[in-house]
Amino acid sequence: MPHLKVQPFDIATIEETIKDSSLITDVATSLNNKDAVLAVTHKNETFLLQIKPDKHAYLLKYDKVTRPLNVTILKEAIGLVAKELNLKVLSSNIAISQTKAAPSSDYFKKIEDFENIVFTKEKVSVEVGFGSGRHLLYQAEKNPDTLFIGLEIHTPSAQQLLKQIALQGITNIWVVNYDARLFLEMLPSNLCEKIFVHFPVPWDKKPQRRVISKSFLTEATRVLRKGGRLELRTDSDNYFWYALETFFSVPKTEVEVRKNEALEVTSKYEARWLRQEKDIYDVYVTSLLHAKEKEGSIEFNFNGVKYTEAIEERLPKKALVFDGYFVHFERIFKSARGALFIKCAFGSFDRPEHKYIVLQKSGCRYFVCEPVKTTVNFLAHQKLTEQLMLQKG
Ligand SMILES: C[S@@+](CC[C@H](N)C(=O)[O-])C[C@H]1O[C@@H](n2cnc3c(N)ncnc32)[C@H](O)[C@@H]1O
Repeated sequence: MPHLKVQPFDIATIEETIKDSSLITDVATSLNNKDAVLAVTHKNETFLLQIKPDKHAYLLKYDKVTRPLNVTILKEAIGLVAKELNLKVLSSNIAISQTKAAPSSDYFKKIEDFENIVFTKEKVSVEVGFGSGRHLLYQAEKNPDTLFIGLEIHTPSAQQLLKQIALQGITNIWVVNYDARLFLEMLPSNLCEKIFVHFPVPWDKKPQRRVISKSFLTEATRVLRKGGRLELRTDSDNYFWYALETFFSVPKTEVEVRKNEALEVTSKYEARWLRQEKDIYDVYVTSLLHAKEKEGSIEFNFNGVKYTEAIEERLPKKALVFDGYFVHFERIFKSARGALFIKCAFGSFDRPEHKYIVLQKSGCRYFVCEPVKTTVNFLAHQKLTEQLMLQKG
């Protein structure tokens, strides 16, 4: 991932340098003064960069929580920041390749876009964990009347698919670089024709990380239209039996099983298993009900929350655990302009949200964007608010 190694410098001088900068809008140092974050805006993207001091060199690098998908924007920003701060570069990996096609952003959707999105086709299907995207590209080409939403947590795979979409001139795929288990809550009821889950990671040792779970299936049957179908394809005996048990526990569905069915398109993973002559299982779950529309809307506001003196010392250092969710104030950075950048993890144990909260005398907000509007995130948000409101005792 893009970074620069620069000659050690005095972080305290940054504040003065950035007074009139439109690129670097704030700098905040950790409470132990060892490292810092820079708030940066470049080409309409706002994100943080980290400065990690070391004896012989300081590292200027991306921040995982706020990183933009477009690596070119990130690389450019790191280079511009180094220039603006007059840093002496010792080594770099931010060269921008001119030969690679820039990812098309028209077909890249952020999770928060789905709060008010207009689906561009009447038919919508979803693929979970598209990997190389071979199956998704094939489906999109074969079904031009359907909009395909591809979900993938692995960022380089999402970038690769965006390149293919641009190269092949495809217009009916949206790429979402997000956890599929959280994403489905963003979709309206009775929307989808199909949900493909092909060769999910079996997670035999950590089954709580599996995509298929009872709660995932409940959401899947809500977003599938009546007669719509979830298609699981797996080479794992364990996963097959686990999924079957899960599928049978959800009411008003029809479950169908196939073995070694040849599909018109073979994914990269499938090709490997076929070479090894492994059995491949398909389980189809058809929704038999017209689902209820989603009720109520979730608002993540911090009304009335403001910076109060020494709040950074009062916030709990350890994670607070509640029934089915947690909140953890992981790191705190303080800026000379009086803002706290608080890195938090919260939500459900197996799929936590990671966000920064900016707390100032004038108010409080999530940086750069709000959490996904799930019930468990909302419960965690209320606990975060309670903690941030804690007055001196
Ligand atoms: C074993 S690969 C299969 C890829 C592709 N479906 C195929 O058949 O070649 C599983 C993919 O699912 C992605 N993945 C795993 N968990 C996910 C999640 N919770 N949400 C979205 N994608 C996920 C992984 O990054 C990986 O690319």
